[in-house]
Amino acid sequence: MTQRIPSSITEHTTLPVIAAPMFLVSGVELVTAACKAGVIGTFPVLNARTSEALDDWMQQITGELAAAQTSDPSARIAPWGINLITHRTNHRLQPDLDLTVKYKTPLVITSLGSPAPAVEAVHSYGGLVFSDVINLSFAKKAAQAGIDGLVLVCAGAGGHAGTLSPFAFLKAVREFFDGIIVLAGAMSSGRDIRAAQVLGADLVYFGTSFIATTESLADKTYQQMLVDATMDDLIYTNAFSGAYANMLKPSIVAAGIDPEALKPKDTVDFSHLVSGETKAWKHIWSAGQGVNFVRQVEPVADLVTRLRREYVAVVAEEQRGDAWTKL
Ligand SMILES: Cc1cc2nc3c(=O)[nH]c(=O)nc-3n(C[C@H](O)[C@H](O)[C@H](O)COP(=O)(O)O)c2cc1C
Repeated sequence: MTQRIPSSITEHTTLPVIAAPMFLVSGVELVTAACKAGVIGTFPVLNARTSEALDDWMQQITGELAAAQTSDPSARIAPWGINLITHRTNHRLQPDLDLTVKYKTPLVITSLGSPAPAVEAVHSYGGLVFSDVINLSFAKKAAQAGIDGLVLVCAGAGGHAGTLSPFAFLKAVREFFDGIIVLAGAMSSGRDIRAAQVLGADLVYFGTSFIATTESLADKTYQQMLVDATMDDLIYTNAFSGAYANMLKPSIVAAGIDPEALKPKDTVDFSHLVSGETKAWKHIWSAGQGVNFVRQVEPVADLVTRLRREYVAVVAEEQRGDAWTKL
């Protein structure tokens, strides 16, 4: 099941998990805590507000992970990664790509545009390129650009989610793509990781669960809202960036907006992410359906330990078989 994943990942992780990149949530602390716990830590480069700040962040991450490995050579310290928005409205793409090459970023996940601008540069130093997609036609286009993996963002995911079922989407993509498949959307337990593997996924994405960690950059009010919310508190809307995303209704209400009266926005424009006008994501917050199971704010290491315990228990349960395997 894991043979598509290179040993640079299998031998340095404790679970087949990526702590997903999240705008205004993932920073140096979250990434390094995730990697030290053995899951791939990632962040959107635009969280560092300038390319100079990004240079600093990358230096801190590589330095801290190298030091942790030196102090415990047998520790499973996972590789780190970034998310690059390759949409034409992202004017920082080239300088950020140059830094990606400078620090030999092990994993580069492209989103909201063709992965083509990143592929050659990242492959030149042996890095991996994954592309984040929400439907079959984007998946086909990305696969043709020579990427190593596809992140299938399914229904119920936090952020800019798709509407497809993981059952249908993963199977359809496997018919034409033999690379690494990362499944994303609404996962919150070790059982979910195993279920994704049974569907044929090589790795999984966890976003929402990591917002509620002590190392995330998220506001405390946001984290408490996650603890209090259920999946019924989400609205799937394109009112904020023009692309459909799952947003927390209580945050929309708190901003003085009626969630039932949102106006669709037809033009997709992510320039506000680059320019620093972050109002929408700073005060109007996103979560996936896994929000239902966020019960507390905890350190990343505790979250990963719980996921691992649950994952190992499910695998043991499978090995005992059931009424149908014993026929
Ligand atoms: C607050 C928030 C911000 C996000 N920002 C980004 C982003 O900047 N880039 C990106 O590729 N995905 C982003 N995502 C999507 C996540 O990377 C991931 O696909 C998603 O969280 C997975 O679903 P889950 O939250 O149900 O686990 C964001 C998600 C959330 C909840």
